[in-house]
Amino acid sequence: MSVSPELMAQVMALHEQLRYHNHRYYVLDAPEISDAQYDELFQQLKKIEQHYPELQTPDSPTQRVGGEAIGAFQTITHTIPMLSLGNAFSTSELKDFERKLKERLESVDIDELEYCAELKLDGLAISLIYENGVFKQGATRGDGATGEDISHNLRTIRNLPLQLNTLKPPLLLEVRGEVLMPRAGFDKFNAEAQQKGERLFANPRNAAAGSVRQLDPNIAAKRPLAFYAYSVTQIEGSQLPATQYEVLQWLKSLGFTISDDIKTGKGLAFVEKFYADIQQRRPLLAYDIDGVVIKVNDLAKQQVLGMVSREPRWAVAYKFPAQLASTVLESVDFQVGRTGALTPVARVKPVFVGGVTISNITLHNMDEIRRLGIEIGDTVEVCRAGDVIPKITQVLARGESTVAIELPLCCPVCQSPIIQDEKGVIARCSGDVYCDAQVQRRLAHFVSRKAMNADGLGERWLEQFLEKGLIKQSADLYALNAEKILAANIEGMGEKLAENIITAITKTKQTTLQRFIYALGIRGVGEGTSLALAQYFGDLDKIKDASMEALIAVPDIGEVSAKWIVAYFQEPLHQQQLQAFVDAGLTWPKIDIEQAQHQPLVGQSWVLTGTLSTLGRDAAKAKLQQLGAKVSGSVSKKTSVVVAGAEAGSKLADAQKLGVTVWDEQQLLDLLAEHRV
Ligand code: IVH
Repeated sequence: MSVSPELMAQVMALHEQLRYHNHRYYVLDAPEISDAQYDELFQQLKKIEQHYPELQTPDSPTQRVGGEAIGAFQTITHTIPMLSLGNAFSTSELKDFERKLKERLESVDIDELEYCAELKLDGLAISLIYENGVFKQGATRGDGATGEDISHNLRTIRNLPLQLNTLKPPLLLEVRGEVLMPRAGFDKFNAEAQQKGERLFANPRNAAAGSVRQLDPNIAAKRPLAFYAYSVTQIEGSQLPATQYEVLQWLKSLGFTISDDIKTGKGLAFVEKFYADIQQRRPLLAYDIDGVVIKVNDLAKQQVLGMVSREPRWAVAYKFPAQLASTVLESVDFQVGRTGALTPVARVKPVFVGGVTISNITLHNMDEIRRLGIEIGDTVEVCRAGDVIPKITQVLARGESTVAIELPLCCPVCQSPIIQDEKGVIARCSGDVYCDAQVQRRLAHFVSRKAMNADGLGERWLEQFLEKGLIKQSADLYALNAEKILAANIEGMGEKLAENIITAITKTKQTTLQRFIYALGIRGVGEGTSLALAQYFGDLDKIKDASMEALIAVPDIGEVSAKWIVAYFQEPLHQQQLQAFVDAGLTWPKIDIEQAQHQPLVGQSWVLTGTLSTLGRDAAKAKLQQLGAKVSGSVSKKTSVVVAGAEAGSKLADAQKLGVTVWDEQQLLDLLAEHRV
């Protein structure tokens, strides 16, 4: 079928109109037409595209409405690592930033150095790849080196260009920026969720993060998300302008949204003024920010400055101070964790601080309560900075008739007796397998990322599965199927979701012995100990039957953990569970203990401190473990080597005091290269 120029013009006009109304609705929260009118335009375009598929371009607004759910997230390695920013919280820290610039830009008159000042958007950092002007892939920051492919969700974001607005697009372009949920959209979204009795998000940042980490793009498509670009990290087949400010304007011309508050100016006086202006206007902005970002404007100078400890030297985040508020402590509840540990949680009169309304604040343990000297009825100070968990910082005034906070004698969930440790800091419910709270927490641990990694099976669903009697313990997960889940009539659960959950559970059947041991949630057995057990015994049966003596012989396992391990495997209920896992078909690759025992660093204990700019600490830890080393968090006489990265602090000092060998990052890299890991 041939396409008339009129029809093409009509399609273009529809694109233009839909884009405009999307922007008004999702970004500005100022729609000009009704939802019905919008739908009519949308359907008009859809109909034309159905008749003339050649008119359906990748950037058509019809391409943003979701599509098929994905099975699991793919890992993406960032060609250029995604860095973080150094922080400044005061004028003097800002001066430190300027002083360091001065040291490195010797020939530059520092008072004449031009900055580009931007907002520090409080969302999620995202990287987008465009090939020949077409959106190809988008990923989360992850740990900076690798992130997750979330293209399916990003595609649904209304203001994210699917095709660049230029006739001569670069062959390759990588744009970075922030995905966020504008406040107005967030308020509307939460209000609707409340009406429907669904879960509310605590703040726009969590809402944005929760939306882009969905397997089903239809969910993201319904969320009012927006993308704001702030940098270009790769370009091929085209040239970037000379300054950050011009890069942003260029991105705008390509169709990206950039913030309205971007300014250039010279010297710290300009920076302080920008900061003060923005701080004043902060409540009126369309989205949450947690400070401003100051960048050296000239890209050539940025190159000269380079980076240190995974932070660019040419930029700093000048953060707003943590926000304080006062409220009244109304009561304290005790929550039961995976190992039965009780955590006191303060229930305070709801108070708005740092962008969220806070009513629950963890108090960690009884020691913290004693340290603060708080009693129920006191007026307390609450502090919250950015995405940091809120804290009670001090008692502001003693209430008129206060009640002391006492540890309960029985578990609030299962009524079993509470047992305290000798120091009176940690208290535990003794209910173990008979305590519903412990069971639920353990299930959550079992499926968590570092354990069995059943993606998409969050606590919300586990809670429902337990409540509806679908499962009683982790092994029961393997007897589930989509029909059973659907038959339980769980609110919000659909066919697709049930299938995704089953796929995720099935995938966990192929695991590693280390993950499986860790997933069991044995007291005192963290990731490191699980690895040590797996490598030493190589086989689950051997671990199960190991005596105290055999366990203590394992590097990294002391008497206390050994006792817990033995006790765990002696419990008949745990034995039954283990059999159920085996029956369900859980498998892991065989471990060659001969080889594992002869790894070059077996028996050594290493400590990583400071920032390792090339590898990152998590990767360095994994590689050292691969070579058989135990990687510990604190330095002692027994430590074999301390690897000190940039800005290493007290651990380096400890090592020097104790005469422990200290290496720099390059020495570690050389060792890893030598052993090909
Ligand atoms: S530039 C080298 N510009 O802040 C990192 N980042 O703490 C370059 N952020 O992960 C980032 N607004 O998510 C830059 N205008 C802005 C920003 C910004 C928010 C976030 C970003 C990054 C984090 C670093």
